[in-house]
Amino acid sequence: MRNRKPKNEPARRLVVLGGARGERREGAVWLVGAGPGDPDLLTIKALKALQGADVVVHDGLVSDEILDLAPAAARRISVAKRKSRHSYAQVEINRMLVAFAQEGLNVVRLKGGDPFIFGRGGEELEACREAGVDCHVVPGVTAALAAGANAGAPLTHRGSAQAVTFVTGHAASGSEPDLDWESLAKANQTVVIYMGVSTAAGIAGRLIGAGRAGSTPALVVENASRADERRVLTTLAGLPAATEQVAGPALLIVGEAMALALPTEEAAPAVLTEPKLELRR
Ligand SMILES: C[S@@+](CC[C@H](N)C(=O)[O-])C[C@H]1O[C@@H](n2cnc3c(N)ncnc32)[C@H](O)[C@@H]1O
Repeated sequence: MRNRKPKNEPARRLVVLGGARGERREGAVWLVGAGPGDPDLLTIKALKALQGADVVVHDGLVSDEILDLAPAAARRISVAKRKSRHSYAQVEINRMLVAFAQEGLNVVRLKGGDPFIFGRGGEELEACREAGVDCHVVPGVTAALAAGANAGAPLTHRGSAQAVTFVTGHAASGSEPDLDWESLAKANQTVVIYMGVSTAAGIAGRLIGAGRAGSTPALVVENASRADERRVLTTLAGLPAATEQVAGPALLIVGEAMALALPTEEAAPAVLTEPKLELRR
């Protein structure tokens, strides 16, 4: 009887590269942070890893300018999420990385920002460990650091931002995340929300409902560190309106220290009223 594929497990797809030529060598996986977009923010270690790659498995957010730093002979595989055709499931990406390394190849898994900040790098590391494949991690500049730097707004600041917290705006189910809103609503701290554009209204409502002032400065940064970076300075209450025009990857940054930010656009009109949001109990 033929083995059946377990339910919910995607079909196995593998791109065969034919292994390393000549003497067989040990392959390895390098989980490399490509930074937020500006190639100048790539680390020297990331550059070295790219230069030694036989195959580069990359996300959609990584620019061609960075991909071109890999040897011309290196195979490039995009595992970007696509609306029009099949996207690779995480389990398929894990299998691909392991299989290439077991072929003796140097595999660079290139990710936007840092591989361990909302990058699913931990899952890929675990897959390599389970398969007994060497896995090295090269940190990258996460989007929040570039966003704060370019805006001239420190994420921590004596007197007004004694802590910074990175949170996701999206739960695995696609809905609002289950966060400790009361703790995030305390004043004098910065909250950076990744993947929060579509849930901005709910997040602002939760924070205000938990006691954070609607007038707290907030910054929306789209395409941080890229040529088309856009920064909108608003308030926590104004976040839903300020995210309406956002099309690219963006961060929502809430906190008193954002009052120092230099926007490329002021939120128009200035939102001074609290949004009318329904809070789930
Ligand atoms: C899957 S997470 C990856 C984060 C990435 N690992 C990092 O460390 O920056 C994708 C989210 O990161 C944020 N992001 C990534 N690059 C960005 C950029 N250049 N500008 C603004 N936000 C960015 C957006 O919130 C986007 O939805």
